[in-house]
Amino acid sequence: MDLLEQIKSNASKLNKRIVLPEGVEPRTLQAASIILKNKIARVILLGTKDEIDAKVKELGVDVSAAEVVDPKTDSRRDKYAGMMVEIRKKKGLTKEEALTLLNDPLYFGPMMIKAGDADGELAGAINATGDVLRPAFQYVKTLPGVSVVSGAFLMFVDKKFGHDGVLVFADCAVMPDPDAPQLAEIAITSAATAKSIVGLEPRVAMLSFSTKGSAKHPFVDKVVEATKIAKEKAPDLMIDGELQLDAAIIKEVGEMKAPGSHVAGKANVLVFPGLEAGNIGYKLVQRLAGAEAIGPVLQGMAAPINDLSRGCSVTDIVNMVAVTANQAQ
Ligand code: ACO
Repeated sequence: MDLLEQIKSNASKLNKRIVLPEGVEPRTLQAASIILKNKIARVILLGTKDEIDAKVKELGVDVSAAEVVDPKTDSRRDKYAGMMVEIRKKKGLTKEEALTLLNDPLYFGPMMIKAGDADGELAGAINATGDVLRPAFQYVKTLPGVSVVSGAFLMFVDKKFGHDGVLVFADCAVMPDPDAPQLAEIAITSAATAKSIVGLEPRVAMLSFSTKGSAKHPFVDKVVEATKIAKEKAPDLMIDGELQLDAAIIKEVGEMKAPGSHVAGKANVLVFPGLEAGNIGYKLVQRLAGAEAIGPVLQGMAAPINDLSRGCSVTDIVNMVAVTANQAQ
């Protein structure tokens, strides 16, 4: 069974409740019908019943097994608003402001998770990344010991690379310009994602335009420092840097440029020095090399909330719901 099938099959066994705040969006509804038919997860659609029913009829899909929740009238609004005020009391959030925020499905979804009424969320088919992430950062927050949420992609490439053709790329979605401690955290959480979702033994390459001192620049220093911090925080992790991309993934180049490294030439987790490199890098591999890219899988959040690219397909949504359900276990 390939990895994707394995992720979906595992999701089916978990039977998690995934909330889809963009409940009236056509690709989301088409994906929901596939998810329900194949029992990949339980689905909660946010929106009014009338709007959802009308769209379902137009599309000719069946989402009758989904739970439909209207954020503007749901009986839990008052309870959720109270929770929001408590969480944001230092920021001075009032109950009235919380109730207004709850009209927005992108706030209602995370509050369902916070209250234990859902296990995970997926949105972003029609909303920008920042709008999906901000409510999650503010109300669901990060895992204990983690301060930075980042976004990884599972990249399916030629079998001669990574772990049987699978690599984890990060951060490709969230932190525009991480400093060295943040980059170290991204490396450690990416290794955890690789282990828990792909089931691989992580070999983490801290990427740069320099390999082991071949170039001198503050950008290189940041990656060297991040590698040092990550090694101190996770001494058992196979991590090395700074490495150029070819030294990280090509055996001969790795042996020549970083002899004796446990990572060079056989990396399966690639940590980019900043979001520009990470976001452009995954799209290059996806578009020019024809790699399947699944993600961004958000890592470091206290509960699984994932973002979609607005160019996503129905299949992307189905796959990401399966990933989200796996993260919720
Ligand atoms: N991890 C954890 N918490 C965070 C993070 C993070 N990475 N970033 C921000 N926060 C928290 C802040 O601490 C703050 O909390 P507070 O309100 O309790 O004080 C809250 O989130 C809001 O922070 P801001 O800095 O005000 O949020 P802002 O909206 O400016 O930035 C954002 C956050 C939206 C994620 C920003 O970093 C961003 O735009 N990143 C790029 C996203 C993007 O466009 N990615 C590329 C597209 S994705 C793709 O192609 C697949």
